[in-house]
Amino acid sequence: MRWLMDFKEFKQRIYRRFGLYLEGYKEPQLKRRIESLMFSLNVQSYQEYWELLNRDPDQWQRFVDKITINVSEFFRNPELFQRLEKEILPELLKRRQVLKIWSAACADGPEPYSVAIILKELTPKVRHRIEATDVDLGALEAARRGIYPRRAVQAVSPERLRRYFRQEGENFHLVPEIKELVTFRQHDLLSDPYGQDYDLILCRNVTIYFTTEVQDRLYRQFYKSLAPGGVLFIGATESIFQYREIGFEKLAPWFYRRPEEARKWGLGIT
Ligand SMILES: C[S@@+](CC[C@H](N)C(=O)[O-])C[C@H]1O[C@@H](n2cnc3c(N)ncnc32)[C@H](O)[C@@H]1O
Repeated sequence: MRWLMDFKEFKQRIYRRFGLYLEGYKEPQLKRRIESLMFSLNVQSYQEYWELLNRDPDQWQRFVDKITINVSEFFRNPELFQRLEKEILPELLKRRQVLKIWSAACADGPEPYSVAIILKELTPKVRHRIEATDVDLGALEAARRGIYPRRAVQAVSPERLRRYFRQEGENFHLVPEIKELVTFRQHDLLSDPYGQDYDLILCRNVTIYFTTEVQDRLYRQFYKSLAPGGVLFIGATESIFQYREIGFEKLAPWFYRRPEEARKWGLGIT
């Protein structure tokens, strides 16, 4: 008799077949989401669900959508983007004319595009390097299209809305002038190698889904990926408890800096 597949084996098979590494996610939440999908499909076992995912690409996309949670918006937590615009980016621009920036787990793009808008205004003539990655190919496709519902642009000022978006019916189309400033590619934070020498890394509202050990590993990897003096910007519900041990300095809540010995910043440590 064939043993039924358990959750552990299901996760391993997903990784081997599709490359999505589910081990790093908090198990109770992950299981709840997967089982609610199975319930809605009237699927009784992981074995049956595994077979369905293998033969039906639409079901696979639905599965990825459920696991990844692509909700995002422009200038999410506007007061933090204010700080980014008024304090963090101007300081970074004193160190380097052309910045290298990574928006990790960018969903359908509002986060890296918000940074692109700010930089376009701060340094209109400079072409910075803004990379944006996500594990979900569907989200990346939507990011490249750059078409958003009203909900996603609610924190955009009326002036920026007029300048950088074209409204068509209920949707807001981002202008090519901003779209072309961001490069999107697929990247799994849990299993792909990280880049180097970033001045700013944004990783917001994704580590909450990962186990504490994985969060710790990721923050250490981000530290190594930053150039000395570079800044990590995290989500408003997140905090890096062991930031000192990793080597970070806390510039302000939600902004952590990899120190650069020779320089002193004007910002207070909060
Ligand atoms: C809630 S969105 C956050 C979007 C944006 N950073 C923000 O704060 O508005 C979470 C994103 O994390 C992505 N994600 C989930 N697991 C991931 C992984 N292992 N590697 C990379 N991205 C992942 C999802 O696809 C989703 O787009």
